[in-house]
Amino acid sequence: MCGIAGYVGNKLSMPIVLNALSSLEYRGYDSAGIAVNEFGKIIIEKSEGKLGNLKSKVNNKLISSSCAIGHTRWATHGEPNKTNAHPHKDFGYNFAVVHNGIIENYNALKRKLKKENIKFYSDTDTEVIPHLLYLETKNKKITTNLMINALHNVVKQIKGSYALAILVKDLPDYIFIAKKQSPLIIGLGKNENFIASDVSALLSHTNNTIYLNDDEIGFITPNEIKIFNAHLKEVKFSVTKLTLQPEQVMLGNYKHFMEKEIDEGSKSIYETVKELQRNRTLHKIPVSVIKNCSSIHITACGTALNAGMIAKYILERDCRVPVFLDCASEFRYKNPIINENSLCIFISQSGETADTLACMELCKSKNAFCLAITNVVGSRITRLADFCIFTVAGPEIAVASTKAYVAQITALFCFVKAVARLNKKTLDYNEKDIIEVSKMLAEHDYKKELNDLVKKIKNKESVYFIGRGIDYFVALEAALKLKEISYIHCEAMAAGELKHGSLALITNNTVVIVILTQPDLIDKTLNAIYEIKSRGAFVVLFSQFKDCAKYVDYFVELKNTKASLMPLIASKPIQQLAYFTAIEKGNDPDKPRNLAKSVTVE
Ligand code: AGP
Repeated sequence: MCGIAGYVGNKLSMPIVLNALSSLEYRGYDSAGIAVNEFGKIIIEKSEGKLGNLKSKVNNKLISSSCAIGHTRWATHGEPNKTNAHPHKDFGYNFAVVHNGIIENYNALKRKLKKENIKFYSDTDTEVIPHLLYLETKNKKITTNLMINALHNVVKQIKGSYALAILVKDLPDYIFIAKKQSPLIIGLGKNENFIASDVSALLSHTNNTIYLNDDEIGFITPNEIKIFNAHLKEVKFSVTKLTLQPEQVMLGNYKHFMEKEIDEGSKSIYETVKELQRNRTLHKIPVSVIKNCSSIHITACGTALNAGMIAKYILERDCRVPVFLDCASEFRYKNPIINENSLCIFISQSGETADTLACMELCKSKNAFCLAITNVVGSRITRLADFCIFTVAGPEIAVASTKAYVAQITALFCFVKAVARLNKKTLDYNEKDIIEVSKMLAEHDYKKELNDLVKKIKNKESVYFIGRGIDYFVALEAALKLKEISYIHCEAMAAGELKHGSLALITNNTVVIVILTQPDLIDKTLNAIYEIKSRGAFVVLFSQFKDCAKYVDYFVELKNTKASLMPLIASKPIQQLAYFTAIEKGNDPDKPRNLAKSVTVE
């Protein structure tokens, strides 16, 4: 996914847009660019690499413009270089366009444009848009009406997803916009207006926002906002007042957002429980949906999927409800058995993950009840879902999901509790225990205990994580966290599976990190520890069972709580292990290479 931002008003636009892009850089950071309209002349500056390169390039350029758009890119089409960076323009610089999304039929559109002798300079899908706008307006006087009609005709030709911001040379006080599937939000100011991919870029200017809906187009000027639907009918928009505070998207005294967000994990757990209790959210899910559903299907990606695994395990083990779980990128292609009696749960921090959204659309088409668990109000998943359970983690900026992960598990634990109540089943925890865990998480930091382990693994080729039952799902999340920001190859394995093949990987000094938090699985997991120890592994144990420390080389003691809730306790050391290892290796933990915060392309 990419970040787009724009400003039109009574102030210098370039610094405002560059600042907005800083808040959006987590959405993509392999190149960046900005376009300004300076009294009817479009000027474009772009650079490869992180936003800082663009900032230093334009810093001393005094461009007096009060209308600008900008872009931070996560490359989908065309390598991450300056030529492919946005904004893209037509030959005559009549239009500058920034785009978040994918134009699936861009090759066909390129062929059509080449027949009109249009020359292309980049490998991107986005570049077709300024050229199409040029064709729609060639030899015509550019007016607001003409532009809206031209934009309407252009987006009708596009198959795929887009959030667009467009400068028009002859309309220097206008930013034209269009939205389909990718997020686009307007920020309302006094004699100024803003657009952005998400609210983190707006909070320092305004908390009055308008969330564009799919297939809407429009424009903003310093004092006017007009939005039109797919039939070119002007729509009445509603203003959403944001409750988020600017400091929630700022680093404060932290060095990295990931460090801050790990620390915010305890508050995320607490706020998520309290919000569910305050709103009685789980009492609003139609009882029939839970009681009469033939099956529950959990679909998600990455960390969200790892959170879902824990819920599946407890729903089946304790509530005796059959649960299917799939990663979203596979679910759609297995011809899933979904019907009007299916309860389909989609977990997504951003609410914008294309794979997950595509699965929800498939399930909706089969009349299933679609329940979303998400962290972003107004995100696309909230508009598609039949019911939403919100995690209350606040904006999560670092690409590696931490506080959202614990909030997702918390929301799922509360949901499972509701299912247990309805099915008259008992669980080993209640919401009071979860609140207790949030306090324990706040009180304990593992930096000291992890220090030597970080040094031990930082130059390792591979690190293995093993566990049984719920501990295996924690091991999967630990492996994902460490690999995605340290770039060390990590693999999580079911502890009982080692002897069926993976044991061949274990040699002298191989680092194996064992997660052991489930009392009923101590002996079985100890067997796996003996197996790897006898092959020379360096065995690390994350556990609350101190008696097991004597069997391993490195012991990280966890606080104890109800067995089912232990993933919440274990989350902090596994997240801090990843964070401190990334720092030790000189990596940027917030913006790991090749990744983006939310993958809005399939
Ligand atoms: C987790 O640290 C990763 N950033 C990634 O796996 C992420 O969880 C996944 O892309 C799903 O994102 P979502 O929760 O926003 O849908």
